[in-house]
Amino acid sequence: MARGSANGKPALVQSDLRHLIHPQHHPSEHQDPQVWVSGKGITLTNIEGKSYIDGLSGMWNVYAGHGRTELVKAAAAQLKTLAFATAYAGSTNLQAIELAKVLKRLVYPNIEAFYFTLGGSDATDTSIRTARFFWGAKGRTKKQKIIARKLSYHGSTVGAASATGVDEFSQGFGPRLPGFLHIESPNPYRFTTTRKDVSPGVAAADLLEEIILREGPETVAAFIAEPIQGGGGGVLVPPADYFPRIRQICDRYDVLLISDEVITGFGRTGRWFALEHWGVQPDIVQFAKGITSGYFPLGGIGVSKAIKATLDTVESGKRWWHGYTASGHPVGAAVALANLRIIQKEGLVKRSARLGARLLKGLAPLKKHPHVGEIRGLGLLVGVELVANKTTKERFPSERNIGKRLRQELLARGLCTRVLDEVICLAPPLVISEKEIDRIVRIVTEAITAVV
Ligand SMILES: Cc1ncc(COP(=O)(O)O)c(C=O)c1O
Repeated sequence: MARGSANGKPALVQSDLRHLIHPQHHPSEHQDPQVWVSGKGITLTNIEGKSYIDGLSGMWNVYAGHGRTELVKAAAAQLKTLAFATAYAGSTNLQAIELAKVLKRLVYPNIEAFYFTLGGSDATDTSIRTARFFWGAKGRTKKQKIIARKLSYHGSTVGAASATGVDEFSQGFGPRLPGFLHIESPNPYRFTTTRKDVSPGVAAADLLEEIILREGPETVAAFIAEPIQGGGGGVLVPPADYFPRIRQICDRYDVLLISDEVITGFGRTGRWFALEHWGVQPDIVQFAKGITSGYFPLGGIGVSKAIKATLDTVESGKRWWHGYTASGHPVGAAVALANLRIIQKEGLVKRSARLGARLLKGLAPLKKHPHVGEIRGLGLLVGVELVANKTTKERFPSERNIGKRLRQELLARGLCTRVLDEVICLAPPLVISEKEIDRIVRIVTEAITAVV
């Protein structure tokens, strides 16, 4: 079978359906999948030779674009020199040392040290275990509970799925682990409060205080939140006063703030890390995706000086018994270093801010459309939410298949992206050009008009 030939696709799909299990697997959505064979810049090409704008940077991760030879060379050179070495205590490697040093300069100033994982889900698990360990080491062993938010996505391992606020991720898998609690999302489009004394952002943040007091501050280890709720929420940008208030509440009750920046890290929102927008620093920051632009699986967490000091001062036998074989992988670290050099050299953080603003401005006329409820975003992370009724914000009935039809209309016009329920998510590679942004605007406008 010739690679790229349309004739080969049915056999491939049959084999795929038989033997390959996919993330969020279901054959009903997989009868005619895209079979991707190559990528260049912001474009993905399928086995039939059709090219699309990669409107979600793969899975929110290919910041530097496809086909970057710098990243290929970095991986190849490292594979040749040292493909693997363990980073368990007593052993280290040059690339992991350098990556931690570089991150120290890029991440929030209070973040002191880094542990590397393979992706975002295990970064969430690592954050949770570390938060509990930190309090345990201080003799506050009851501080175990983790508070998260509805509509959050933190991953699919048992711990991360327990933190995740989208109920489907715990359906059929048994209940979430004990000790995980969820408060309302500050979703500015849909959050409602009866409080008149404070802004909606503060009212939403105060739900954290309420639950901490209800559970007892002595039982709560950490609050975990994505600065902008992405994969579960459909790009929800909180009000500007939300995270400053969250930080105050966490400080008041000795609750660690974990910022899950798996989607928002490394410039996606127009700042290196998203809580910078609101002048807030977390105790733990977790990341993955954009750190390597997806060229190698790598994630991790960064921890504050206080947490690092605890890890350094506990007795050897009571140490942080946590570790992954691939932690500090030299190839992943080499790719991350090359990718971060690209982000810096090409000014992709500022570019994301500038082109994100252009994208929002281009989409703004759609606000007049009778079914466009909200257009929101920060940097190159944008969501366009469609509703059946703009006054009541009522959603379309599922039998109208609006999300699926939108995706089809977008694809028909050359844009491949994710539609979460009725929210079109846009997060193209940060190397995208002005012209390509304008093309996305045209395609989204036409696709919406074609569907509703
Ligand atoms: C905010 C957030 N956290 C965690 C994860 C899980 O990351 P991974 O899929 O790399 O395990 C994701 C994945 O989309 C995410 O968006």
